[in-house]
Amino acid sequence: MIELYINGKKVEEHNVVPDMTVLRYLRTTKNLPGTKEGCGSGDCGACSVLAGDMVNGEWRYKTINSCITFLSQLHNKSLITVEGLSQGSQLHPAQQAMVDKHGSQCGFCTPGIVMSLTALFENAPPNADFSLHEVYDALSGNLCRCTGYKPIIDAANAMKNYPGTIDVSIWTPSTERPVDEGGSDHSEGQAWTPKTEEALKQLLNDYPDARLVAGATDLALEVTQMHRRIHKLVAINQIASLKTITETRDYLVIGGAATFTEIEPFLKGSFPEFAALMSRFASRQIKNSATMGGNIASASPIGDAPPVLIALNAEIEISSLSGSRWVALDTFYIDYKKTILGTGEYIRAIRIPHRKATEQLKVYKISKRIEDDISAVLMAINITQQGDKIAAVRTGFGGMAAIPKAGAAIEAALLNQPMNVNTFRQAGLKVSEDFQPFNDVRASANYRIQVTQGLLEKCALEMLNPQATSRVENVCTAKLHSDNVIAPSAQECV
Ligand SMILES: Cc1cc2nc3c(=O)[nH]c(=O)nc-3n(C[C@H](O)[C@H](O)[C@H](O)COP(=O)(O)OP(=O)(O)OC[C@H]3O[C@@H](n4cnc5c(N)ncnc54)[C@H](O)[C@@H]3O)c2cc1C
Ligand code: FES
Ligand code: FES
Repeated sequence: MIELYINGKKVEEHNVVPDMTVLRYLRTTKNLPGTKEGCGSGDCGACSVLAGDMVNGEWRYKTINSCITFLSQLHNKSLITVEGLSQGSQLHPAQQAMVDKHGSQCGFCTPGIVMSLTALFENAPPNADFSLHEVYDALSGNLCRCTGYKPIIDAANAMKNYPGTIDVSIWTPSTERPVDEGGSDHSEGQAWTPKTEEALKQLLNDYPDARLVAGATDLALEVTQMHRRIHKLVAINQIASLKTITETRDYLVIGGAATFTEIEPFLKGSFPEFAALMSRFASRQIKNSATMGGNIASASPIGDAPPVLIALNAEIEISSLSGSRWVALDTFYIDYKKTILGTGEYIRAIRIPHRKATEQLKVYKISKRIEDDISAVLMAINITQQGDKIAAVRTGFGGMAAIPKAGAAIEAALLNQPMNVNTFRQAGLKVSEDFQPFNDVRASANYRIQVTQGLLEKCALEMLNPQATSRVENVCTAKLHSDNVIAPSAQECV
C-alpha cells in the first residue's frame, strides 16, 4: 500500500502501476488538474508541488517536480497542490500577491510559480524580507514565457504584506505517521518503499531486475521522455541510514540517498568551492530531490559532482546482501554509462577526505546558461602549493570523455612546476593527450579542448591573484547589487 496525505487528506493506494508519476496520478486519478504539464522533464516547473517530510515531529515542505517523481517515492509524505492553498475565497499570500502584482498572463506556468513562492513564504519567518538571491533560488526552476519575471519577483517581495491564511490542517495533517514499508502490486508490476537497508538488500537480491530509484531526476526521464516502462521499482529515499550526513575527523561522509539540498550546508562548511557549484546545478526543485548517489550512479559523462569528487580523492561505499566495500571513485567508471556496480549492489555512502590547509580546490562549469543547465565541460583541480611550486595536484573532468576522469598528463605537466601562467599553458598542451572529447549539441570536441586550455590558464590567474573578480557569476552579482537591475543582459555577463 502507498499511503500519503494530499492537501491534508489521507489517501491509500493499493494498485498503481510502479512507474506512475505524481503528475499523471494527480491529473488523471485524483481529478486535480491545477498542476500543469509543460515539459515533462523537470525543466519548466509548471508541475511543481510541495512534498512534506516529517522531521522531528514537524512536516517540512519542499518543492518538487511532480512530472518526474514516482508516486511510490511519496509513501508516508504530505503532498500539497495548488488546489489546497486557498481557504474558500481567501487566497494564500503567494496567490494574492501574484494577482495584485499582475504576475500571470496565460496562466500556464502560474500554479508552479505559486507553489515555489509558497515554499519560500512558508519556510521563512513571518514578515521576512527576501534577498534577490533567495527569490531567484526559489524560482530557479520555473519558466514563464509570457509575463516576464519582474511582476513575479515583485509578487515574491509583496507576500509579506498579506497575513498567513493557510488552513493549518493542510500543513500538519497528522503527526502519527505510519512507519510501514510501502509498496504497490499491480498486474503491470510492483513498487516498494523499504525503510531499512536490510529490507533493501533483500529486495535487490530477490528481484535482480528491479530498478532502484533515489530522487528519480534521471530515472523518471526514461519513462517521460523515452517512453520506457519500469515494471519493478525500489525507492530508497525513505531509508534513514542512507540519508545521514556526518563529519568525522578525516572525512565528510554523505549517505547515498541524501539530496543536494540536504548536502549543500555541509559543503558550504567544508568545501565552499564545491558548494558554489551548487548554484549552477539544476533548479531548487531538482536539488530538493536529486541525490549525490544518483549523480554518481547515473554515470553520465556530464554529471557535475563526479569530477569534483575525483579531484578530492573521494571514495564510495558499495553494499549488498554479501557485504560492503569502499572503492576510490576514479575506479568506479568503466565505460560510457557503465560502472563496477554488480547485481544487488547499491551506493551506500560517499566519503570525501577533509582537505589540508595547503590544498586549494578550483571548480569551473561551462554551460550555455548560468543557471539550471547541464555542463558542456566541468574542470575541478585540487592544488597544493609550496613556495612558488606546485607540490601536489589532482584533477577531475566532465564532458571530456565517455566517463568522468582525471587528466593524468595534465597533472604530470603541472607537478613540481612553478606556479605561473606558462606552467598552466604548457599543461594545456597536454589536454588532447588525456582526452578525445565528443561532439554533441552542447559543444564540439574542438571547443571542449580549447575551453579546457582556457580554464587552466584562468586557474593560474586566479591562483596568482585570489582577489580578482574572474567569474561570470561574480560579475553578474556585483552588477545586480550595484545597479539594482533585475538581471544583467547576456552581453553584460560575457
Ligand atoms: C531539469 C534537470 C536538470 C538537471 N541538471 C543537472 C545539473 O546541472 N548537473 C548534474 O550533474 N545533473 C543534473 N541533472 C541530472 C540529475 O538531476 C542528477 O544526475 C541527479 O543527481 C540524479 O540523482 P537522483 O537521485 O535523481 O537519481 P535517480 O534518477 O533516482 O537515479 C539515477 C540512476 O542512478 C541509480 N541510483 C540512484 N541512487 C543509487 C544508489 N544509491 N546506488 C546505486 N544506484 C543508484 C538509479 O537506479 C538510476 O539508474 C538534471 C536533471 C534534470 C531533470
Ligand atoms: S512539466 Fe515541466 S518541470 Fe514538470
Ligand atoms: S503566464 Fe504564460 S507562461 Fe507564464
